[in-house]
Amino acid sequence: MSIVINTPNGNIGRPLVQKLLASGRKVTIISRNPEKVSDLVKQGAKLVQGSIEDKATLDAALEGAEALFWLSPPPTRPDFVTWAANVAQQAAASVKAHGVKRVVVLSSVGAQNGPGTGPVSALKPVEEAFKAVSPNVTSLRAGFFMENFLRDVQALAKAGHIYNATAPEKTFPMVAVADIATKAAEVLTDASWTGHRNLGVHGPQDLTYPEAAAILTQALGRPVKYMQVGLEDLRGSMKGMGLPAWMADAFTEMYGAIKEGRMDPAEPRSKETTTPTTLAQFAATVLKPVVDQVRAS
Ligand SMILES: NC(=O)c1ccc[n+]([C@@H]2O[C@H](COP(=O)([O-])OP(=O)(O)OC[C@H]3O[C@@H](n4cnc5c(N)ncnc54)[C@H](OP(=O)(O)O)[C@@H]3O)[C@@H](O)[C@H]2O)c1
Repeated sequence: MSIVINTPNGNIGRPLVQKLLASGRKVTIISRNPEKVSDLVKQGAKLVQGSIEDKATLDAALEGAEALFWLSPPPTRPDFVTWAANVAQQAAASVKAHGVKRVVVLSSVGAQNGPGTGPVSALKPVEEAFKAVSPNVTSLRAGFFMENFLRDVQALAKAGHIYNATAPEKTFPMVAVADIATKAAEVLTDASWTGHRNLGVHGPQDLTYPEAAAILTQALGRPVKYMQVGLEDLRGSMKGMGLPAWMADAFTEMYGAIKEGRMDPAEPRSKETTTPTTLAQFAATVLKPVVDQVRAS
């Protein structure tokens, strides 16, 4: 029986498919862009071509499946909360129809709070859509992806600054996507758990932005400083970079939620939520080559 991955070309989906294939599992992938996943098909994944919005695609993928990994794509439309919930409800109906035993939902810290958390507002309805139909659902409530620093490469390469609205003393969990993929693979292949569970995925330690800046300074070999700015500055800068107003508003809402503690994890840090990759390791192996390339160009 196969394990179905709905976003095999994503930051988490891709390493997750690779880990499952490497451990000898049967993997079915859903992709609307087969050319982007042809390497995974060569490695043994079965492709169902189509959109995750399409019932026939979901049915074709989930027939005979034992487990589903469901990740809601980042927002690409103003009604993203309704869209993500509707698409998840349709997938959940297919899970029920095909008797899929386990669902693992990629969620986020803060998902427990629902509306008012920007893009994360979509994830509570998505968790609930699967819990409504399946007795065995694990929501992986991940912390801030270390990969988000890749969005700051221009500022890191030029001024050596990272900007946000969060108070310099506020700590939050930062996790590498490779570790989230490892955790997802563990949970998907473990047939012993039952029930509805929320599992934190928190990286090795909670960090403040100034602590992260100090780590990046060491790893990048050049000074990095945290600059706290206002939420309106962030909104203006996102719009200035060409983001549509609704998207800048959604991310501004999320940054406000982080600042005010509404994105704090509901699940306390524990041995189970702590994952190994440090920010220093991520910065040295993933971020530095990209920053160096921008500096050289
Ligand atoms: N960033 C953070 O700090 C953070 C923290 C916690 C949780 N999260 C959550 O993590 C998720 C994002 O994960 P990620 O970074 O792994 O995502 P990602 O890399 O952006 O991948 C999203 C994938 O969705 C696929 N996709 C989009 N629309 C589709 C459709 N209609 N049919 C089929 N595939 C479709 C895309 O496929 P193509 O490649 O074919 O376009 C893409 O590969 C979000 O739900 C976010 O809320 C993020």
